[in-house]
Amino acid sequence: MDFKGKKGLVFGVANHRSIAYHIAKVLSDNGAEIGYSFQNDRVKDSVSKSLEGTNPKFLLECNVLDEESINEFFQKASQEFKEIDFLVHSVAYAEREDLGGDFSNVTKKGFSTALETSAYSLIPLVKHGAKLMKNGGSIITLSFEASQKVYPGYNIMGTAKAALENCVKQLANEYGKNNIRVNAISAGPLPTLAARSINGFNEMRKAHSERSPLKRNITHEEVANASSFMLSDLSSGITGAIIPVDSGYGIMGL
Ligand SMILES: NC(=O)c1ccc[n+]([C@@H]2O[C@H](COP(=O)([O-])OP(=O)(O)OC[C@H]3O[C@@H](n4cnc5c(N)ncnc54)[C@H](O)[C@@H]3O)[C@@H](O)[C@H]2O)c1
Repeated sequence: MDFKGKKGLVFGVANHRSIAYHIAKVLSDNGAEIGYSFQNDRVKDSVSKSLEGTNPKFLLECNVLDEESINEFFQKASQEFKEIDFLVHSVAYAEREDLGGDFSNVTKKGFSTALETSAYSLIPLVKHGAKLMKNGGSIITLSFEASQKVYPGYNIMGTAKAALENCVKQLANEYGKNNIRVNAISAGPLPTLAARSINGFNEMRKAHSERSPLKRNITHEEVANASSFMLSDLSSGITGAIIPVDSGYGIMGL
């Protein structure tokens, strides 16, 4: 895959384990120029340190829960990049108490936080990003199989991923006329900062390694490679798709 001359934005690097970091690494190793976001001042330095060696073009604050922060990010990003070719949305959050326990205990606030951060945020990022995709482009987000099936430890995030996947399809339909593709990679469980909050995460890893057709867990690199394919011209005929990178776990009935 050749990304020479291609520019894009990556949202969601927290550290070296972040899925976004691994996607960005493959893209930049193949020639892409990338601008990054960080969530808030508290994490700025650690994100900046994680990006050493990946030649970031810029690193700007963007809290996806704050409309003004999103506007400012894109205003500044558009001064750095007049046009972009790709965008990676790799952002999710739910309150710890809403990841596990009885589903019916979720509060209205917990529901809103999870859905706003993890699903709604794709919409403004696509809307702003699309304005910079003057010659078309490709956008991906990261989902999980809990959008379709019950994973008790994932709880409210399953609802958020269901909403996210529906957003992917509606946005793919809306932006197809601009030659902008919107897809999701549905990744198997990977040890990251966000995954640490999920109840039963180790059991999920064990189940994938024992019951998937490939009889192993996926790697960060496999998600990054599939993501790069979806962001490249090689996937030009694919939009609105939810692509599983899960060792085949999702096809199993038992
Ligand atoms: N790790 C897994 O097993 C797994 C599997 C499937 C899908 N995913 C998805 O991959 C994506 C990336 O997660 P990850 O596992 O790499 O974890 P991570 O913790 O490295 O990344 C999550 C990112 O979301 C960002 N974020 C949270 N709230 C934000 C806000 N208000 N504004 C801006 N940024 C915010 C964090 O700063 C962080 O960079 C998520 O959508 C997650 O649900 C993860």
